[in-house]
Amino acid sequence: MRNAQRPTDLIGQTDMIRVRSLSELTGCDIWLKLESQNPGGSIKDRAAYQIIKDALDSGELEPGMTVVEGTAGNTGIGLALVARSFGLNMLAVMPNDQSPEKERMIRLHGAKCQTVDPVPFRNENHFYHTAQRLAEGRDDFWWANQFENTSNARAHYLGTGPEIWQQTEGAVDILVSVAGTGGTIAGTSMYLKERNDDVQVWLTDPDGSGIYSYLQTGDYVANGGSFTEGIGIMRLVENFKQARIDAAVNLPDQDLYALSRYVRDHDGIVLGSSSALNLAGALQAAAVHGPGKTIVTFACDLGERSASKLYNETYLRERGIELAAEPAKELVARYRENGERVWRAAK
Ligand SMILES: Cc1ncc(COP(=O)(O)O)c(C=O)c1O
Repeated sequence: MRNAQRPTDLIGQTDMIRVRSLSELTGCDIWLKLESQNPGGSIKDRAAYQIIKDALDSGELEPGMTVVEGTAGNTGIGLALVARSFGLNMLAVMPNDQSPEKERMIRLHGAKCQTVDPVPFRNENHFYHTAQRLAEGRDDFWWANQFENTSNARAHYLGTGPEIWQQTEGAVDILVSVAGTGGTIAGTSMYLKERNDDVQVWLTDPDGSGIYSYLQTGDYVANGGSFTEGIGIMRLVENFKQARIDAAVNLPDQDLYALSRYVRDHDGIVLGSSSALNLAGALQAAAVHGPGKTIVTFACDLGERSASKLYNETYLRERGIELAAEPAKELVARYRENGERVWRAAK
């Protein structure tokens, strides 16, 4: 229990829960670090706090100014709450295909939110370029730039990594994470590998993202698409560059859908889509390394933020998801045979 002076004092120090059903199925201890407990409901609060704190400390950002950021939503929520508690304003630029749950929350925090059409990165109207342009248009605007600003990864090096080390009493064998900016996997992997170089770091990539192919071939190539939000990317950014990754796997929405229902029904845990993909990655890692391993992954945000997609049957049918979920036991058996789909770093 903590008594705080500001919401930002409550960022980090999140609990972990052992996912009993999947731990029993795999013989590994699979832990979820509940980043949904952060005051803004996601792991991005950590990056938001560090980005603003570092910029205030360096004098780049001053009270009264407006923080501008392009975001899939969670970073916008985190920045909005941190900005307010430091006397700053917030303007988020968000693609209009992200869940309305997140856009509403940004506005509830009193921030401005401008939506743009989702377009490829090379298009000047991409949310990233729009945010940059807006920020550069005024002296009292400041661009947070979560992709290239490495205060993002630093948040996880200073907070998330040490917390996992402490919570597992140094027994963590495998870290599994999705990546958007790569801040989480970069900062956490750097810290854990400094403590124990044998910790294995697994990236889970959704369809429609090029990270898995980048690790395999050096080129960003994507197949298909995904309804996950905030993860997957088609270019190399400064935060991701710092990640120390041993293995990567690309997994489809169908698998995260199956796991979201399994842990909801067996463990009472309602996950967001990137978090369910994290658990799918944890199962794949358990199938390769287990049994007996301690695996840590993240509940990146509140499950409610995926209500309109992952928990909406009409939407799922439109996306071609088979609603009769594959039992987790069969998923594990399939992942045991999936070995060749896993990319492994050269030793
Ligand atoms: C729901 C969700 N999961 C995961 C991530 C990825 O985190 P990172 O940017 O640290 O790679 C994000 C990033 O925005 C997110 O919104």
